Amino acid sequence: MVFLSSFFCLAGAVVSVLGSEPQLSPHVLHEHRRSLPSGWSLHRRADPETTLPLSIALVQSNIDSLEEYLLDIADPDSPNYGKHWTPAQVRDTFRPSQESIDVVHAWLTTDGVHPERVQFSPDGMHLRVNVSVSEAERLLATEYYVYQHEDGAEHLACQHGYHLPEHVSRHVELVKPTIQFTSAKPSGPGVSTSIKRSDLGRMRARRSGVHKPSGVPTHPAKAVEGNSLDHCDEQVTLDCLRALYDFYYDLQVPDQNSIGVVELGAQNYNGHDLDLFFKKFNEGRVNDRPKLISIDGGKENVTQTDDDLIGEANLDFELVMGLLDVAQPVYLYQIGRDGFVDDLLSAFDTQYCIDIGTKHCKDKPHTNVVSISYGTGEDGPHNEMIRQCNEMGKVALTGVTFVYASGDNGPSNAGECFAANGTEVDDVGNFFPDFPGTCQYLTAVGSTQINTGSSPYDPESATADFASGGGFSNVFARPRFQERHVARYLKNVELPYGPNVFNRTGRAYPDVAANGWNITVVADGEFSTSGGTSASAPIFAAMLVAVNDARIAVGKSPVGWINPAIYSHWFASVWNDITDGSNPACGTDGFPTAPGWDPVTGLGTPNFPRMLARFLALP
Ligand SMILES: *[C@@H]1O[C@H](CO)[C@@H](O)[C@H](O)[C@H]1NC(C)=O
Ligand SMILES: *[C@@H]1O[C@H](CO)[C@@H](O)[C@H](O)[C@H]1NC(C)=O
Ligand SMILES: *[C@@H]1O[C@H](CO)[C@@H](O)[C@H](O)[C@H]1NC(C)=O
Ligand SMILES: *[C@@H]1O[C@H](CO)[C@@H](O)[C@H](O)[C@H]1NC(C)=O
Ligand SMILES: *[C@@H]1O[C@H](CO)[C@@H](O)[C@H](O)[C@H]1NC(C)=O
Repeated sequence: MVFLSSFFCLAGAVVSVLGSEPQLSPHVLHEHRRSLPSGWSLHRRADPETTLPLSIALVQSNIDSLEEYLLDIADPDSPNYGKHWTPAQVRDTFRPSQESIDVVHAWLTTDGVHPERVQFSPDGMHLRVNVSVSEAERLLATEYYVYQHEDGAEHLACQHGYHLPEHVSRHVELVKPTIQFTSAKPSGPGVSTSIKRSDLGRMRARRSGVHKPSGVPTHPAKAVEGNSLDHCDEQVTLDCLRALYDFYYDLQVPDQNSIGVVELGAQNYNGHDLDLFFKKFNEGRVNDRPKLISIDGGKENVTQTDDDLIGEANLDFELVMGLLDVAQPVYLYQIGRDGFVDDLLSAFDTQYCIDIGTKHCKDKPHTNVVSISYGTGEDGPHNEMIRQCNEMGKVALTGVTFVYASGDNGPSNAGECFAANGTEVDDVGNFFPDFPGTCQYLTAVGSTQINTGSSPYDPESATADFASGGGFSNVFARPRFQERHVARYLKNVELPYGPNVFNRTGRAYPDVAANGWNITVVADGEFSTSGGTSASAPIFAAMLVAVNDARIAVGKSPVGWINPAIYSHWFASVWNDITDGSNPACGTDGFPTAPGWDPVTGLGTPNFPRMLARFLALP
């Protein structure tokens, strides 16, 4: 690795023009990345003449109060429960200060950038300037390199980290493009196929680090025996799921309610498969299709038959549309490019969108519930993860619930763990938490199974054929609402792990669980079984749609951010506690389940009528 010394030359050279006395302000490390995402290596020094479209995101006003604002409307004991904010309130509250704009502008222009080259975003969130690599290296006290992926794709990024004058650093969230890889723009031919599937059937986009959590190969299934509940251990049908969670509900106001499911890249549902499935299990939905909301040029391909590309989306829509009556619109957020959470959030909020002027900065409609079954590891740039998590919180302020599959590899990230030196290694080492699963503003859903020979009325276990994703964040501190539950787990369960294996003070996940094994699906014209937390998330999401329906029908708001409520004593009787199973990974036994919350199945699976009653009782 190249040792960077050049920035020391700049230290002290930057003068703040704002104070009455010019101040010397040394460069400080603003952000760095601990390791490269796997598959990438340093290739060559970047051409100093290459143009970089530099975007500087300013620190948002009041962002430190975000959790407090959210608790005010989401804590079941708060008198303001359910009083969601308008998008305009969110925009005004978090708009950066004029001081931030002035300081950053002054820094750029006194450091050799002509003021005419600097553009402000109309909402005052960002500054933009086109600079050469050599200018960027001087401004940010760093060095840019071309990185190459195993598959030949190239990406420009700075080595290790970048620096800002101290007085500027305080006003900047992050600068792009610098150390980011996750939203890497396609930089060569053939790079648009971002999601790959390994031999094990687990999908990940090594280039962007995003993976589909399903570690579960699909198996052909025998002819499904009608809707009988006799074979739920082998073929989990919609009726089995209804029986498991007592989920019987007639929608009242579906036209006033909404749910969206996120799909990435070339991952598409197949329309014919949906029809085959619905013909058997929910006839009203035959010929019905999710309503497309295209992000970043995301495209449907309803004739796609490649198993690797239809597995996730088929599973998601067969479950969500299947579990809800045809009157309920179901939306598809199809994200193109190499994008993931950042692009979803950019499409939700132009103010967040840093790539101003590009086609994905659009205020796309937010559905009340958003279900996401893709993930990545908690190894992105620190500020970027925090910014994304905060943005989910800001969207949640307007009443949106993010439901998230916690991953299918226990406390590892799709089978990768951290070596002692911090590099990513396969299947052995310290635990590698999932992002955005570790963000407290979404609800992470782990996986359960009906045990062999059991019925839907017997207790479920944590899935055994793959390890339900769960663990502890290294980035996000544990929120207060889950402290009581998590502390109890850590006190009662003896774990054979030293302090480096996982972080006992971190945000713990998952929050809840739902079935994710032997799920009956149709893929490529055949009935088969599938699973993964990829199934658990849409199942839980569908139940929240019904909860929102009941609340909207009596004039209440959708539930929005549910975490403070579901961990509260009001919801204690809602959960079917899962106490059997564990989530082995990283060459360890992972975490065992235990009475109460555990990092395998969270609080447990929902009893729908009780969950509904609790949410209906809230203001
Ligand atoms: C940067 O260059 C691109 C392409 O030439 C142009 O579209 C964009 O407006 C420029 N941005 C700024 C801030 O000048
Ligand atoms: C899942 O289905 C298979 C048959 O397809 C069966 O052998 C197994 O017992 C079922 N349940 C579990 C928990 O694996
Ligand atoms: C849709 O999928 C089919 C089957 O894999 C493929 O032949 C076709 O090229 C795809 N269409 C688009 C627009 O990607
Ligand atoms: C870090 O540790 C791993 C596993 O022990 C090893 O393979 C790798 O070479 C080490 N990397 C560095 C940069 O020391
Ligand atoms: C552990 O988590 C806390 C947040 O709770 C974080 O500040 C700290 O850096 C983490 N420690 C390690 C070693 O990652």
